[in-house]
Amino acid sequence: MSKLLVTGRKKLGGETYVQGAKNSALPVLAATILTKGENVIYNCPDLSDIEASARILRYLGCKVSRSGSTVLVNCDTIDKYDIPDELMRKTRSSIIFLGAILARTGRAKMSFPGGCEIGLRPIDMHLKALREMGADIREKHGYLDCTAPKGLKGNKISLSFPSVGATEDIMIAACLADGTTTITNAAREPEICDLADFLNKCGAKIYGAGEGVVVIEGVKSLSPTSHSIIPDRIVCATLMACAAVTGSKIILDGVICSHLASVIPVFEDAGCKIRCCNGTLEFTAPEKLKAMKTVRTMPYPGFPTDAQAPLLAVSCIADGTTVFVENIFENRYRHTGELIRMGANIKTVGKVAVVEGVKSLYGAPVEATDLRGAAALVVAGLSAESQTEISGVRYLERGYENLELTLSALGADIKKI
Ligand code: UD1
Repeated sequence: MSKLLVTGRKKLGGETYVQGAKNSALPVLAATILTKGENVIYNCPDLSDIEASARILRYLGCKVSRSGSTVLVNCDTIDKYDIPDELMRKTRSSIIFLGAILARTGRAKMSFPGGCEIGLRPIDMHLKALREMGADIREKHGYLDCTAPKGLKGNKISLSFPSVGATEDIMIAACLADGTTTITNAAREPEICDLADFLNKCGAKIYGAGEGVVVIEGVKSLSPTSHSIIPDRIVCATLMACAAVTGSKIILDGVICSHLASVIPVFEDAGCKIRCCNGTLEFTAPEKLKAMKTVRTMPYPGFPTDAQAPLLAVSCIADGTTVFVENIFENRYRHTGELIRMGANIKTVGKVAVVEGVKSLYGAPVEATDLRGAAALVVAGLSAESQTEISGVRYLERGYENLELTLSALGADIKKI
């Protein structure tokens, strides 16, 4: 079991490139199932969650190989429609394969993804939509058995909440459906647009991605393509948080500034100066951080739930009180208990966390229990007096590509043992 050892209070400096977005790469990999021939996916981060998807693709009969950040996927030889429980459990987002496998083979069988570290994460919206598109779905003994022998049919789908995963699953399934599918109250995250860009390059007809209504005209077949994954806005926010708590100036390259429109003002509230143009973000932290205005997580373009934990770690040493309201997941404050061990002053009640800034945090042995919570502990460790020992590093590796190497290159004292 690896651990991270962080000795805090080292200033960061210099320039780094932001990795490709995990949350784009995962649905794009699933969507390759709809194509015949070789897809080339550039800027694909090397993460355990991505490897878990590659294993599912290989199990299904696809060929997947990686060279650096380029991944080749060829699903010509797909010969299975099921995903074993062991592979399903590796990532919660494996449900995104449901629509793709069903659309390609007319059948899909996989275990029911259960709850997870950050909440229950039901899949009712995915199932309701696919049923509305003509799928017969049986839920038994923890398995979903779905059939659509004559293919799926386009329909009008209205989501009760703009779920990212459900929007992606339906978009993928609808590409090869008979007729037109309209998704209302669709999620508008940049990763939805990236998936639509990939699918449209393959020959799909998706209109309105990134808006509340997405229209997908079904086509007969899709061809492979090459596609570059967008930069990871959450990794970018995390690196900004690392610079904020160490009073540092850093430059982040390969950034799409508009994707950070709800995150930048929160850092500015804290006194940070940010200049973002032409893919480069220059970040300068103040001498002393200030408390931020209430941070409410919302579907895009609101403040992302995935950036809540790293920002909460920043607020721990800001001057004043910051209130967080977590509106997306019901169990997303587990990192606060560990931050309290490091001297933070945090009270949580339901979806609200009240953080009273302290002068400084101190190093302690802490344990990560989810991906973004792990990132929050790294941020806290960088700011703390003396050494922080972080266990549960596997969670961090689900979403951050060698974060310790990136931070060391910027001057942090952090190593994996
Ligand atoms: C995706 C992201 C995740 C991010 C989240 C919200 C990926 C791989 N993961 O997760 O990093 O935190 O969006 O931005 O892209 N819900 C239901 N029923 C459903 C589906 C969702 O009740 O059928 C609920 C969820 O429990 C949650 C909310 O809707 O409370 C939002 O979930 P959703 O947008 O679907 O998140 P994911 O796609 O799982």
